[in-house]
Amino acid sequence: MGAVRDEKPTEIERETTIHDVVPVPASVEPADGVTFTLTDKSEIRTTAGSASAAAEVGEIAEYLAGLLRPVTAYLLPIRPSTTGSATLPAEGGTGGNIALALTGAEKDLGEEGYVLDVTAGAISLRANAGAGLFRGVQTLRQLLPADLESGTVQPGPWTVPGGRIVDQPRFSYRGIMLDVARHFFAVSDVKRVIELAALYKINYLHLHLTDDQGWRIAVDAWPRLASFGGGSEVGGGPGGHYTKDDYREIVSYASHHFMTVVPEVDLPGHTNAALASYPELNCDGQAPARYTGVDVGFSSLCVEKEVTYRFLDDVFGELAEITPGPYLHIGGDEAKTLTADDYAEIVNRAQEIVGTHGKTVVGWHEVAGAKLTPSTVVQFWGVTPEAPEVLAAAARGNRIIMSPANRAYLDMKYDSTSPIGLTWAGNISVPYAYDWDPLGYLTGLDPAAVLGLESPLWTETVRTIDDIEYLAFPRLAATAELAWSPASTRDWDRFSGRLGAQAPRWAALGVNFYRSPGVPWVVER
Ligand code: ACM
Repeated sequence: MGAVRDEKPTEIERETTIHDVVPVPASVEPADGVTFTLTDKSEIRTTAGSASAAAEVGEIAEYLAGLLRPVTAYLLPIRPSTTGSATLPAEGGTGGNIALALTGAEKDLGEEGYVLDVTAGAISLRANAGAGLFRGVQTLRQLLPADLESGTVQPGPWTVPGGRIVDQPRFSYRGIMLDVARHFFAVSDVKRVIELAALYKINYLHLHLTDDQGWRIAVDAWPRLASFGGGSEVGGGPGGHYTKDDYREIVSYASHHFMTVVPEVDLPGHTNAALASYPELNCDGQAPARYTGVDVGFSSLCVEKEVTYRFLDDVFGELAEITPGPYLHIGGDEAKTLTADDYAEIVNRAQEIVGTHGKTVVGWHEVAGAKLTPSTVVQFWGVTPEAPEVLAAAARGNRIIMSPANRAYLDMKYDSTSPIGLTWAGNISVPYAYDWDPLGYLTGLDPAAVLGLESPLWTETVRTIDDIEYLAFPRLAATAELAWSPASTRDWDRFSGRLGAQAPRWAALGVNFYRSPGVPWVVER
């Protein structure tokens, strides 16, 4: 790993190359001297092998056109091929067309893989499924000039460096978590997170919907959770909550970015907002006041009361109805007031309840102390390589999501000068966020057990979307690359070059990113 050599950000001028894509693709073959140029005659041509694939490729073509039309002012008509043939209509032409095809890709590219060919005359992108085509569009997006991201008409030229990229992800789970409980974030902020994370091929959005400081999702059977429990946040602000329609809007927006929402209702601890809303959920029948501080570990649902389980059944039942993805996250962290037996009891029953609603449980790694259902996914958030209970769960067949707090947490400070962020897991510089292996972090963990990697962003110190962006960029790009790219590509000097090339893109997108020292930040000419 290259040392961070200077204190000040460095800036260099250069154009986008085929080597600038983050996460770096599995295979990149440049065609030296070859450049594709989009023109006012260019078309987006789509090919699909079935009616449903035709609808999907059509949607992705609209998405691509939606990026290109406002900045190029070209018409870029979308022309579906009627033949369904695997021959791409753009190939061999000179019109500067872009072909998107849901046919003709090698099956071993899987759902998310794609092949992108850029010649002087045409671009062709093929995949087996919409997800792969969409990931390929993100690659193409990063190969176009950064002005693409400005959203207003720009002079161009709209060039793409020639070559062939064959790509597919290392891990099937590549997540970001946003804590909307410590501070509440509007639907528009969550959409912004989705858009920016999609650019780095993130495919899961974990929403930490409930905590001591606020309950952020409407539950019809327990309306005071949102109406009262939602009305607070860290520092005493107004808080807020998502209606079910808000939540559906987030889920739908995520799904248009081929991203799955994982909603979390944290239990049995981190529940003061629920306990404040309903006295009957407390063992002593007394509702505590709402909480706006930042302590953890003081609250708990009442293990011995049956109403607790009716409550969980209602909450997870309603959440399951509006969540198309497979996972419901039950939290399980920092339940410091319970005995191990009581903790195991409530986690076991929560697992059963989620199962009856047809969903798979995810829990923070403390849940490994309960009796896990084999399908339960364990999210490791520790800071040391020894985690015997996680290893034991993996040995029993449970899958593991890696989120070690001293590497993957986006809410730690970069260094002592960071204006926001926490420090309990240490400062996390950009090189430090990048230079670790999700399969090597835990001593003795069977690599086959690792489902993927998630970067959590807790929001005790985070109040605005600008704050979110400052902590997530550039570190989300680092963990996204660890999650997507082959392990053999990990090299800080090369990565920092790719990362530096994101700067004009982030500037055009208006991203409030941290210009970390040690990264050669590219400036637009
Ligand atoms: C956590 O950071 N308490 C999961």
